[in-house]
Amino acid sequence: MKILIVNGPNLNLLGRREPDIYGSNSFEDYFQQLENNFAELDLTMFQSNHEGELLDKLHEVGFSYDGIVINAGAYTHTSVAIGDAIAAISTPVVEVHISNVHAREAFRHHSYLSKHCAGVIVGFGLESYRLAVQYFANKSTSL
Ligand code: DQA
Repeated sequence: MKILIVNGPNLNLLGRREPDIYGSNSFEDYFQQLENNFAELDLTMFQSNHEGELLDKLHEVGFSYDGIVINAGAYTHTSVAIGDAIAAISTPVVEVHISNVHAREAFRHHSYLSKHCAGVIVGFGLESYRLAVQYFANKSTSL
């Protein structure tokens, strides 16, 4: 089962960026743990600070992979284009956020992505990603 984790802008700074909100682990370290925990899955990750590159990656894998986990960072709240890309592809997408966006500024309460996603996982720190991957892992065993 092929699962891609997509991280958007500023998420390359995890571990160094506002650690009181986003924690002090780098995503690279966390991703290694995920790979160990889900050895049966073919897990890959992609990060970009550029909206067009995120779109290109969604188009590239979105008709062949079994699942996509996306944290689009601030583009979540601004990008009609990423929402449209998720609507356009056939691979199911789970939206994740590290912080509880609903407990933060009002502009973070709206997502252009959620409507097109299989589900949304918010506010569990980096564990939000594990819960999303678990959703796809459960689907693979129930097939
Ligand atoms: C975030 C929440 C967004 O509002 C913010 O712009 C981010 C990270 C999160 O994972 O909590 O960059 O997506």
